[in-house]
Formats: sequence, structure tokens, C-alpha cells
Amino acid sequence: MINFKNISFSIGGVSLFDDTSAFVPTGHKVGIVGRNGVGKTTLFKLILREITLDGGVIEVPRNYKIGAVAQEAPSNEEKLIDTVLAADIERAKLLSASEIETDPNKIANIHTRLADIDAYSAEARASSILSGLGFSQTDQHSPCSSFSGGWRMRVALASVLFSNPDLLLLDEPTNYLDFEGTAWLENYLQKFKNTVLVISHDRNLLNKSVSGILHLSSKKIQFYTGNYDTFDNERRSQLEQKISQKNKQDVQRANIQSFVDRFKAKASKARQAQSRIKILEKMKPIVIEEDQKIPKFKFEDVIKFAPPLVTLDQASVGYNQVEVLKNINIQINPDDRIGLLGVNGEGKSTFSKLIAKKINVMKGHLLIPKKLKIGYFAQHQLDELRPNETPFQHLYLKINKEIPSKIRAKLGSAGFTSETMDLEVRRLSGGQKARLLMLLVVIEKPDLLILDEPTNHLDIESREALIMALNDYKGSLILVSHDAFLVERLVDRLLIIKDGNVSEFSGDIHDYRKLILNNNSKKKKQESILKNKNSNVSIPNFSLSDLKKSLTYSEKKILEFEKEKKTLEIEMLNQNFYSSNNQKRAQEVNVNLQKVLLKIAEEEKVWEKIVESIELISK
Ligand SMILES: Nc1ncnc2c1ncn2[C@@H]1O[C@H](COP(=O)(O)OP(=O)(O)OP(=O)(O)O)[C@@H](O)[C@H]1O
Ligand SMILES: [Mg+2]
Repeated sequence: MINFKNISFSIGGVSLFDDTSAFVPTGHKVGIVGRNGVGKTTLFKLILREITLDGGVIEVPRNYKIGAVAQEAPSNEEKLIDTVLAADIERAKLLSASEIETDPNKIANIHTRLADIDAYSAEARASSILSGLGFSQTDQHSPCSSFSGGWRMRVALASVLFSNPDLLLLDEPTNYLDFEGTAWLENYLQKFKNTVLVISHDRNLLNKSVSGILHLSSKKIQFYTGNYDTFDNERRSQLEQKISQKNKQDVQRANIQSFVDRFKAKASKARQAQSRIKILEKMKPIVIEEDQKIPKFKFEDVIKFAPPLVTLDQASVGYNQVEVLKNINIQINPDDRIGLLGVNGEGKSTFSKLIAKKINVMKGHLLIPKKLKIGYFAQHQLDELRPNETPFQHLYLKINKEIPSKIRAKLGSAGFTSETMDLEVRRLSGGQKARLLMLLVVIEKPDLLILDEPTNHLDIESREALIMALNDYKGSLILVSHDAFLVERLVDRLLIIKDGNVSEFSGDIHDYRKLILNNNSKKKKQESILKNKNSNVSIPNFSLSDLKKSLTYSEKKILEFEKEKKTLEIEMLNQNFYSSNNQKRAQEVNVNLQKVLLKIAEEEKVWEKIVESIELISK
């Protein structure tokens, strides 16, 4: 269990938590929700003891292994799979100890422990997590440095999941996952045995994967049982109740006050007046917490250009002379609202950058009117904000020294408080940074707006505000988002990017989802057949008879390994096995035993996969 006991914490003179308590029972999966900047990420830092409470305690059982996704994903030459395997520190330690240990008793202990922690199936487990998060077998054996930041975040996530912590802390994990990755994570969390705290603004995840909600608001933390929708309903009805109580109390208060006012001068009624004053004093005022302001984004009217706005003619684009997208022939018209579809890594962002003129065509032509103002918003730009300058300074520079009060009004309408307007960007929360970036785009009054995953980091209310603003926006829009809900509400033309081509997609977003899911299960079928990389079994094609042959072969191998294991175990039973003059042999036997156990575990996996494939094919 995790017990937040009367915790208080302020930063820079702003109080985030004020003497508040909450309790999360062991094994519960709990979503942490609250407006941008309310202190969710800070709460994680407090749990991890990266910063210290001003008052109260957060009790976490002693020896609890806490797992949190590293901010900085690793970028080195190590293979993905090895990076993930290294995350189980105990296993890594035991394995290296077993190689140098000479004391046979200790060696035996090491191996017992390795078996206890299920170390022999480690590679298979790590691999299944990685493939759930979208890494193919080839990817898993490539160095971390060959992946982009977003993908390395997934490696970091895989590592934490693999280390199987007693308490798992996830801070907005779906920000760096695509549609498939998110679905996989939802499922993983449902099955996860230990305690999970997950910060998220993603309703879907909060409805599917958690059974409790910690709501942060007005410096308090409150626990609700149930998923997000249950919490939302409960909170609304609590609020209604409170408002009606407050109204009643206001009437009572006014009554008493008028009595007091009338009679306090009259000697005969003075005592009654006095006692009513006491009643008034005792009445605790009911305060309706005023939640932070909901931001408003407002796009100005645009200049109307004659169609086509953008023309791509036989265009190719890529990096380092390698073409990522080829032979693009597309026209974009002034009132187009386009959604870009495609699995991560296919080139949606490359296409957006091309239109935003962040990169150039390699071949062919891109025609854009000179006067066209393009607004471009992408997540990675969060890093381009100047960390030591405040939101106010960012805006001041952008809109050519507009008068300060106007700048403050603009920041205010985007949800900034007088404190956060003047806070250096590096101290802002994720959502606050995203809002600033959006404001910087809006202020340019763009005629064409390109948004790459615009809602990540924004809280549920700000998402709604952005959708509303985009609905009213009169210019043309290109949107990249894995949020089907957003795409459905905002776009009327879909382009699909696949295998280096950009083409029109004639269905709607639901058709696309179906297509993805179908493809995916086909891919899974094939992968389950092919996923026996570590074995010597090779399946030249997918025919049933071949699979059956492989199965017999695999069974034979398991039997062989089992026999080997038995021989070693019999030797270990020998009375003199652990005697001092048999040390060397004892060590050898232990190492061999470890190897053979590993082989058995791996071969069993292969066997399972073949059986699965046979079942799939026979269906
Ligand atoms: N030095 C400081 N002075 C004043 N306020 C600060 C300082 N450092 C951080 N803050 C504020 O602390 C608040 C909590 O930030 P935190 O990152 O915990 O929010 P969050 O709930 O995770 O938000 P989000 O949903 O946007 O990720 C923010 O409003 C931030 O601006
Ligand atoms: Mg945060």
C-alpha cells in the first residue's frame, strides 16, 4: 500500500499540496488525474524522493522496488533486447556472480534464486514486451542509438515493465505510443499483478486499465474507486450537491445576518442577536473550489488563397540521400482538412515537415504561395522552447514587443496564471509547455496549420478547448494524430502514408482502424511462425506438414536437453559433489546446468510458437 499522510509541498511560493491524505491499497491500478500544472509529475518526484516534502509522509513499504520510466531514454550501442534484460538488476547480478563464483554452495544458491525469479524465461519475456510495443525481431537486435527519441522512450518503458517492480509509476505513457502500442499497454496493465500509478489524460486508458482514480485539485488529493467515467460522474454529483448545500447555507446566512442587523441595537433582543452571531461564526462556509481556468485558443480569420494552396509534383523527400517518400503527387486546397494516416515510422512527420518547409524536396517540386503563413506544431518543438526564458518573454519576442498587458491577457486566456507566465520554461509542467507552444503557433495567424500530435500533454479540458478552436478555424489543416476521436471530429480528407507512398484513403477513420487491426493480426500470425529466431529450427515455408515436422524436431530436442539435465542432476546428488576437491567440476556442472535450463526454456517457447502456428493454420 501507499499511504499519503498529511502531505504538504510548495514550490517557488506556490502551494501544490496542503495537508492532504490519501491511500492506495496494494495491487491496485490507479489513474492520477488533474489539470495541467496541478502537481501530478511533482507527486511522482515526491514518491521517488527526488524532492522532499514540506510536511507529512508518503509511506511506501520498505524494500519495495519502485519502477519509473527514465526521462532520458538510453542512446548507446547496446542491443535493445540487452538493454531491457539489464533492467532486471537482480538477474544481471546473479548471472555475472555465477560466472566468477567458486564456492559450490553459493553457486547452487545462485541457481536456485535464478530459477525462483524466472530468469530462464527472461529473454522470451523481454522479447514479448518489446514486440508488444512495436519492435520487430530485427529491431530487438539493433543498437538503441539507431532509434529516434520517441522509440527510445518505448525501450525505457519496456525496461521498466520487464523489471517487474512492486510499484510501477507511469507518467503519460500514451504520449509516445501509437494506436497499437496503447492498446497493448492497456492490456498489459490490466494483467499486471502489482501496484500501478499512472498519470494520464487519456480517457480510454483510464477507463480500461484502472480501478481507482486519485484526483488532484485545489491542493488536495482524493481517491475514488472505479474507472474514469465513474469518477467523473461521482465528482459531478458531488459538485452539484455542494452547490445546492452552498445555496441553502447562503440563504440561512442572509436570514441570520438580517436578524442580527435588525436587533443587535435593541436591548431586549441583544442576547438572541449575540447567540445568532455565534451560530454565524460556527457555520463553516462551503467553498466551491474554482478549478483552474480552462484555456481558450482562438484562431484569427485567414486570407483566402486561390486553389490549389500546395502542389506536390513528383516530389521525393528523405534524409542523407535516402528517399523516405517517393513520387508524391498531391494538391491541397484552401479549405481542406486533412488527416494523415500511417503506422509510426512510415513518414507522417516527414511529410508534415516537408509542407512546413522544415526540410526540402530531394526531387520534383513543391509549390506554395510566397505569402502563405504556415503554422507548425510538433511535440519535439517542446525542446526548442528556450528553457531559461518565461512564457511572457517568448511571446514578447514573437509578437514584436506588443504592450505587456496584451501579452498577459493572451497568456491568461491560454490558461496561464500570473505566476506561471513569469516562470522559466524549464520549470513548467508538460501541459503548460504544450499550451505555450500552441499559443506561439496561434499568434502567427497561420493560413495553413500543420499539427503533429497536438493533444499530447494537454489535460482533458484543454483538449476540448483546442478541438473547439480548430473547429472554428477557417484555414486549411493538416493533422497527424493517433487519437481517432480527434481525427473524426476535425478532418474530412484522409491521406495514407505507406511504403514510401502518399495516397488518398477513401474510407473513414474506422475503416482505417479495422484495416490496421486486420493487418496486425495477419502479421502476428506470420510472426508467431517466424519467431523462433534463437532456435535451430528453421521453417522454410508455412505449410502444415513443414510445421509438423518442425514440431517433432523441437520435441526431440527438448527430450535431449531434458536427458542432459537429468545426467547433471544425478551427478549433483553424488555425496562428494560439493567436497573441496571436486570444486572445479561442481562449478562446471552448475554452469552446464544453467545453460541446459536456458536451452530447454527457449526450445519450449519455440515449441509453443509452432503449436500456435499450427492451430492458426488449421483454423
Ligand atoms: N520554481 C518554481 N516556482 C513556481 N512554480 C513552479 C516551480 N517549479 C515548478 N512549478 C510549478 O509546479 C506546478 C506542478 O508541475 P507538475 O509538473 O507537477 O504538473 P503536472 O500536474 O504534472 O502537469 P501536466 O499535466 O501538465 O504534466 C506547475 O504549475 C509548475 O509551473
Ligand atoms: Mg506532468
